[in-house]
Amino acid sequence: MNRKLRVGVVGVGGISSEHHLPHWKSSPHVELVALCDIDSDRLQKQAAKHGLKETYTDWHELIERVDLDLIDIATPNEMHAPIAMAALDLSKHVLCEKPMATSAVDAKRMLDLAEQRGRKLQINHHFRFDRTFRDLVAFSSPADLGVPYFAHARWHRRRRVPTAPTFLQSSLSGGGPMLDLGVHVIDLAMMLMGFPKPVSVSASSGTHLARRSDLGGDWGDWDPLAFEVEDFAVALFRFQTGATLFVETSWLGFHDKPEEWFVRVLGTKGGLHWPEGLVVQESNKIPRTTHLTGSATRSPYEQSVHGFVEAIIHDQKVPIPPGESLEVVRMVEAAYISARVGREVPIDDVD
Ligand SMILES: NC(=O)c1ccc[n+]([C@@H]2O[C@H](COP(=O)([O-])OP(=O)(O)OC[C@H]3O[C@@H](n4cnc5c(N)ncnc54)[C@H](O)[C@@H]3O)[C@@H](O)[C@H]2O)c1
Repeated sequence: MNRKLRVGVVGVGGISSEHHLPHWKSSPHVELVALCDIDSDRLQKQAAKHGLKETYTDWHELIERVDLDLIDIATPNEMHAPIAMAALDLSKHVLCEKPMATSAVDAKRMLDLAEQRGRKLQINHHFRFDRTFRDLVAFSSPADLGVPYFAHARWHRRRRVPTAPTFLQSSLSGGGPMLDLGVHVIDLAMMLMGFPKPVSVSASSGTHLARRSDLGGDWGDWDPLAFEVEDFAVALFRFQTGATLFVETSWLGFHDKPEEWFVRVLGTKGGLHWPEGLVVQESNKIPRTTHLTGSATRSPYEQSVHGFVEAIIHDQKVPIPPGESLEVVRMVEAAYISARVGREVPIDDVD
């Protein structure tokens, strides 16, 4: 492609204004053309900040512009699939925030449409570009990790509840911390484990604290009566390989730390710990722990955005394969089903 990619962004809230718009602007291969948001004050503020004149409050009008090559979606979760499918159908490339969708069927439709239209699709699982994580991936090989047989992924928050309806209203978010935070750590654990095929899950979720009016949040108060999703969820996934993955998530809970997240993988030759960057091994009866500090690098968000642009320009595979993001959605959806019915459920393929 000899000209710049022309980009339109749908949703200019927290993540978009902090971590998308600056990286579109900093890419030498991109012209940021137009913004869309249903909140016109926010829209005009971001348009002014980035010197843009073209703004929309209806995403249909934005994506129908024939001069746009790429649509960036940073709206509430439930809007990801409808906007992505419409944009892909119009042969736009799509960068979409996580989670890919709130159902595996929708995520599969997005994947299929991208293939049919020959367009690139990437979901912004930006933690994959965390510098320590990238170094750990190099140790996830059979030579260093061996056969992975267990992983433990956690993202707990003591009192950090996202207060916006984007997250708390189920018709916008599609789920609570298992969908919001779980998709990140599941994605990282799956990557270190080599994306084994999930076969079943037993999960539990509940709104144990968030509807109480005597509890506050580090990020402000929320309306307890409008809190429609879970505040806590755990899941044990089984894989075809015999391996298991235990995932814990919460936005609110009596934890000892304000926030804690990690992914730990046990294999037959070693153990991997993120974000600590530890590789735990033993040879000739001598235990060894290597501490990876991660090499200095650009922001993970910047790498996700710029990596996607490079993949389009050079017609290469996108850095975060959307088929893997679909697998994560499939797992989370099955976990919610298991929690609802109160027993282990199979994780079926989506056709
Ligand atoms: N990669 C990450 O680590 C990360 C971090 C935060 C949020 N996110 C994801 O980004 C998305 C947005 O989160 P946020 O924190 O920016 O939320 P936010 O509420 O700050 O922003 C969402 C924006 O979308 C706008 N919007 C809602 N419906 C719309 C519609 N129909 N058309 C156009 N605009 C619409 C809202 O007005 C708002 O400005 C969510 O899917 C969230 O999961 C990802």
